[in-house]
Amino acid sequence: MTLRLMKLLLSSSTCLLFFLVVSFWCSQSINAQKAATDPSEVRALNSIFQQWDTQAADTWNISGEPCSGFALSQSDSVFEDPSNNPAIRCDCSFRNNTLCHITSLRVYALDKRGVIPEELLDLPYLTFLKLDRNFFSGRLPAFVGKLSRLGLLSISHNDLSGPIPKELGNLKELYYLNFGVNNFSGTLPPELGNLVKLGELNMNSCGLGGKIPSTFANLVELRTVWASDNAFTSKIPDFVGNNWTKLTSL
Ligand SMILES: *[C@@H]1O[C@H](CO)[C@@H](O)[C@H](O)[C@H]1NC(C)=O
Ligand SMILES: *[C@@H]1O[C@H](CO)[C@@H](O)[C@H](O)[C@H]1NC(C)=O
Ligand SMILES: *[C@@H]1O[C@H](CO)[C@@H](O)[C@H](O)[C@H]1NC(C)=O
Ligand SMILES: *[C@@H]1O[C@H](CO)[C@@H](O)[C@H](O)[C@H]1NC(C)=O
Repeated sequence: MTLRLMKLLLSSSTCLLFFLVVSFWCSQSINAQKAATDPSEVRALNSIFQQWDTQAADTWNISGEPCSGFALSQSDSVFEDPSNNPAIRCDCSFRNNTLCHITSLRVYALDKRGVIPEELLDLPYLTFLKLDRNFFSGRLPAFVGKLSRLGLLSISHNDLSGPIPKELGNLKELYYLNFGVNNFSGTLPPELGNLVKLGELNMNSCGLGGKIPSTFANLVELRTVWASDNAFTSKIPDFVGNNWTKLTSL
């Protein structure tokens, strides 16, 4: 009798202990997965995609939790996977790994139409913005110059027009800039000479003309410069040979 009672007590307390361990482990792993996208970024992304008549790829979710699926991978091959388009990438290491910010946005060759929307400003953690090969039209807005973390800005093969805003010169982190094959007008803003980290500049068939600004002498990191099929005038500046010492493709 006492033995049976003891056995019963023992097994039920083992059971209780097991239950406690499992529930603790569960709550820990649930906590570990609790990282959520900044709600203002979720709203901005939904608004942008609505304006562009765009849905998320099957590899991630637009509503609810955009920082899901492929968007959580830091691997470039996952991000660049052809099935992952449009694509975002997130950094969920904020506030002790509970808050995600959207750091990359790619809408590539999807025949999308519309303008560059102001809601992009609500994605202030963007380091990568690639919108090439669509039918985006209107101006390249000056507010793009406020996305101060951008390292890559690629908007080639669209129908953008008007001037290149001088505010692009504020994007001091840019290492890659491509605004080729558009219908811009006017001249290169001298402020682009502030982009001292720029390694690649592609402005083929962009619509601009006039002189290459003397400030471009400061762009000493340039390795690739493509500038064909434009109305650029005057002579090729001496600084191309003297100061763009890392150039491998012109
Ligand atoms: C997207 O959300 C749905 C519903 O919450 C979920 O079933 C699905 O697995 C999610 N997809 C990805 C790629 O995270
Ligand atoms: C961050 O998470 C760790 C591990 O879960 C915890 O020990 C620490 O107190 C947390 N810090 C803050 C500021 O919440
Ligand atoms: C390009 O812009 C000019 C005005 O700057 C306009 O006259 C022309 O029609 C545009 N071309 C195309 C192909 O949109
Ligand atoms: C460009 O190179 C010339 C000759 O080496 C040098 O005198 C000048 O300071 C350089 N300019 C810039 C902006 O680096």
